[in-house]
This record gives sequence, C-alpha cells and structure tokens, in this order.
Amino acid sequence: MKIEDSGMPEELYWNSLFNIKSIIDWLDIPEKSTIVEVGFGYGTFTVPIAALSPKNTLVAFDIEPDMVEIARRNLSNAGLSNVECILRDVLAEGTALESESVDVVLLFNILHFNERNLLLQETSRILKKGGIVAIIHWRKDIPTPRGPAIELRPDIAQIMSASEGLELAFHGNSKALKPYHWGIQLVKMP
Ligand SMILES: C[S@@+](CC[C@H](N)C(=O)[O-])C[C@H]1O[C@@H](n2cnc3c(N)ncnc32)[C@H](O)[C@@H]1O
Repeated sequence: MKIEDSGMPEELYWNSLFNIKSIIDWLDIPEKSTIVEVGFGYGTFTVPIAALSPKNTLVAFDIEPDMVEIARRNLSNAGLSNVECILRDVLAEGTALESESVDVVLLFNILHFNERNLLLQETSRILKKGGIVAIIHWRKDIPTPRGPAIELRPDIAQIMSASEGLELAFHGNSKALKPYHWGIQLVKMP
C-alpha cells in the first residue's frame, strides 16, 4: 500500500527543501553501521549517508520502480556500491530482514499515515538492542512549500504514542531541522 500523499516533486526542487548536511550531521552515524531506509525516494539522504564511509552498509526500500531506478543511478554516478536498493511494499510485506540485525533505521518523510505503528513495529523488530531509529518530518506549525496535507503530518507526541509498547525510547536527540522539518531519534531498549 503506497502511503497517501507520498508522491515526489522534481528531484532538484525536492533536494533544495532540506539542509542535507545538517541532517546527516544530526544523525551522527558510527562507522561500520548497518542502515535501513524505508521509502528512499531519489536517494536524497541515501547517497550522502552511503558516501560517509564504504564500511557502512545500507539496505534501502521503495515501492516505486521509478524511484528505485533513479536512486540506483544516483548511487552509481556517485561511485557507491554499499547500498542495496530494493523494490518492495514495506507496509504490506515488511522488510524480510532478520530480527535485531540493524544499527540504524531511517524513516524520513514517511510516517504520515494512521497505521504508523505498524512501520514502527517492523523497525523495532529489525533494530539491534541499542540501535537507533531516526525520524524526520515536515513541520505543521509553519507554512511549508511542500509536504503532505497538514492533518496527515505527525508530530513528536504522535510518534511517541505510536511507539508505546515497542521497546523504543526517546534518545534525547530531537530538534528542529531548519528550514521545514523536525527530527527525533528513538533507541531500541537494551
Ligand atoms: C515523501 S517520499 C520521501 C523520500 C525520502 N525518504 C526523502 O525524505 O527524501 C516517500 C517515499 O516513500 C515511498 N513509499 C510510499 N509507500 C511505501 C511503501 N508502502 N513501501 C515502501 N516505500 C513506500 C514513496 O514511493 C516515496 O518515494
């Protein structure tokens, strides 16, 4: 099931809506991490994260064949071979990854649907104890040039509520990611 309001505008325009470097810095990903990204789009974040270190391994999923093709091309143009891009409906089928096998999960601009706890449940399942899920989304307290309908956008309180009972705890690293986003990191409890 494709998440409502998750279509993408033109690539360069989409990429201009983020301070990508500051978001990558905020992630603070340790070297040799195994990283999963759900709904990678153009690879806006996949490519710079893969470029951080060839010792990081990424498994990235998207439901759209066009996105898979474009992201693969972007990775190839950047000379990166440490990402596996997989065409998959993660909501319907999960990731099929082993339980407790992943250090970091990225859920960027994707949790604007009511059953978000299903994706958080799958995230918690695949995260190692002590692993991190990083979530970013569009702010709804200011006007933004893109993003899903305001009423669909989650806030941090809704994320915390959807994470209840999933062994995910606030990691003390939530912040405004200027100009239009907020971010939160949750840790899988040991
Ligand atoms: C708004 S875009 C965000 C892309 C990327 N995370 C970013 O922030 O640049 C959401 C992406 O999620 C993908 N998507 C939507 N539903 C999905 C599903 N059920 N399984 C996997 N990917 C999905 C869409 O195709 C789209 O590329």
